[in-house]
Amino acid sequence: MAQLWGGRFTKKTDQMVYDFNASILFDQRLYKQDIEGSRAHVKMLAKQGILTEDERDQILDGLDSIQRDVENGSLEITKEYEDIHSFVEANLIDRIGDVGKKLHTGRSRNDQVALDMRLYVREQVQYTDQLVKELLEVLLKLMEEHVATYMPGFTHLQKAQPVTLAHHLGAYFEMFRRDRERLSDIYKRMNYCPLGAGALAGTTYPLDRDYTASLLGFDGPTRNSMDSVSDRDYLIEYLSALSTIMMHLSRFSEEMIVWNTNEYRFIELDDSYSTGSSIMPQKKNPDIAELVRGKTGRVYGALMALLTTMKGIPLAYNKDMQEDKEGAFDAIDTVNSCLPLFTGMLATTTFRKDVMEASARNGFTNATDVADYLVNHGVPFRDAHGISGRLVLKCIAEGKALDDLTLEEFREESPVFGEDIYEAISLKTCVEKRLTYGAPGEEVMQQVIRECRGYLQEA
Ligand code: ARG
Repeated sequence: MAQLWGGRFTKKTDQMVYDFNASILFDQRLYKQDIEGSRAHVKMLAKQGILTEDERDQILDGLDSIQRDVENGSLEITKEYEDIHSFVEANLIDRIGDVGKKLHTGRSRNDQVALDMRLYVREQVQYTDQLVKELLEVLLKLMEEHVATYMPGFTHLQKAQPVTLAHHLGAYFEMFRRDRERLSDIYKRMNYCPLGAGALAGTTYPLDRDYTASLLGFDGPTRNSMDSVSDRDYLIEYLSALSTIMMHLSRFSEEMIVWNTNEYRFIELDDSYSTGSSIMPQKKNPDIAELVRGKTGRVYGALMALLTTMKGIPLAYNKDMQEDKEGAFDAIDTVNSCLPLFTGMLATTTFRKDVMEASARNGFTNATDVADYLVNHGVPFRDAHGISGRLVLKCIAEGKALDDLTLEEFREESPVFGEDIYEAISLKTCVEKRLTYGAPGEEVMQQVIRECRGYLQEA
């Protein structure tokens, strides 16, 4: 037991209490941030004349050597220390002696942990953003390749109207683009430095909080010391953004799973991203997509857990907040592993254009266009809808598509139909005439793709 706070106590901590209270097993992943924060703190203390330059340099050398030894494996972070802050400080004192005891001047573990976590999350927000961007690059490349790959668009998982694969994938492009915007908003809001808040009420030392904030790349210091040590909003926002990313990945996974079935056959997953069955030799399973869909639950769980942890905590710091870490770390690791796996799976998938197109041809995805044809020839839409519906009914009974009807059969329902109906309801026309901004027609789709390309080049 290496503790920072024995003075006021006459008895040793019970071992079970010590273990229950300790966070070293999970907060050790913050060692780099803890050392980085200490470096900035010490530089500021020296600048303010609270430490001498010589003391500063000894502490900085000590911190460097701790970081080096942790990274080369010669210094192990063990359960002997209560948390990562105690580990660094105790080792510093072991290495440089009494000067090391000055490191914690004008600082509390409360502002220290608030800083460490913020530095860690800030880095992870950027990393997640990078991973989402890589997914967007793959999506856009596929969109560029598939502007003329026709497929059915669905509502209620029933074939509705024909679209293109570029258009369908473009929907995911928009979702993941918004995810990036959320991440960048979170980054902007969280990028303020809590160091110098002390335990809760600041300190009487003349700290220069602007200086430490700028050394650590923050936009400035936080404005209220009590809030600084008890704010976990930024983490909740990040977990919320991660949950939304997982929700999007999970929907996409669901589609990949359905598209990969024997019934759909829209796609073929690459062997390198599929798994087999121990008993059924014919199986090629979409386990990666299923795992991504399945892992969504634990990310939502981390968000719910932290919201619940925070809801009853009075100001300022309370130990409950130590519970922010394990769930958040798990959620961050989960998303940051799901994203590249999903991207890899998508990039290696074969899209079966012929199957998609054949599927778009049957299922009456052009029934709306039959009605629109009539409207263009002066029939009110509601009547046109009825005529088209009756033609569909006839086709279902006779097992054919609308395109297979003879002109006489069309005319039995309405004399307005002419030879040009076949052209008007061909798959190509149905898609290419849909030229409202945001629709699948190639001309507008190309425009949107150009805008998406411009966005990826900028951000
Ligand atoms: N391990 C603690 C945490 O993660 C560090 C802060 C401890 N502060 C305290 N006053 N006990 O929240």
